Amino acid sequence: MDILEAIAARRSVRKFKHDPIPEEGIQTILKAATQAPSGKNQQPWRFIVVQSDKRAEMVKVMRKGMEKIKAQGKDIGSSEGTVRAMEEAPVTIFVFNPHGTAPWLAHSIDQMFNDVVNLQSIGAAIQNMALAAQGLGIGSLWICDVFSAYEELREWLDEEGQMVAAMSFGYADESPEPRPRRPVSEVARWV
Ligand SMILES: Cc1cc2nc3c(=O)[nH]c(=O)nc-3n(C[C@H](O)[C@H](O)[C@H](O)COP(=O)(O)O)c2cc1C
Repeated sequence: MDILEAIAARRSVRKFKHDPIPEEGIQTILKAATQAPSGKNQQPWRFIVVQSDKRAEMVKVMRKGMEKIKAQGKDIGSSEGTVRAMEEAPVTIFVFNPHGTAPWLAHSIDQMFNDVVNLQSIGAAIQNMALAAQGLGIGSLWICDVFSAYEELREWLDEEGQMVAAMSFGYADESPEPRPRRPVSEVARWV
């Protein structure tokens, strides 16, 4: 698939078929992630693949975090819809920045600069995963609602560093229309 076609055809998928993704597909997606550019070639990413019977545990942990937030009287935003998509998707990959710390902790200026650079690198890796999946005919959903269970998921995954996002993958059971985009003329200017 042509790269521009893949960019244009990619959608956030929230309904997945039960069909599993072959191991080779997951490896291809992870390889694409590691081929992303990164500041000083630091490759500040770690990937944790959750699939099979571990998915139910993941969903339970996510719901536990959401309940805690609700009990504090706070809004869980779109987390309910997201956790349903995670429940359906055969594979979810969590992405960590091993050099990062929790976003709400006090940061030194150096740490903040490193985080800005490393998060850009990780964003490139995540987008590579979405496009690689697209090329393989696999749907994906980029997820930051995992922050509704930040501590719970981090502990369950037993991973050091900063949890940045998750991405769920599976064969799409829907064909979402493109979401509206601001025209280039509105978001770019020439000097
Ligand atoms: C950083 C980031 C975080 C996102 N987090 C979520 C999420 O937690 N749950 C969800 O359903 N969609 C999430 N999305 C998907 C966006 O809602 C989606 O990309 C946007 O609405 C545009 O739609 P499209 O991806 O189909 O073009 C996220 C996307 C990005 C880039």
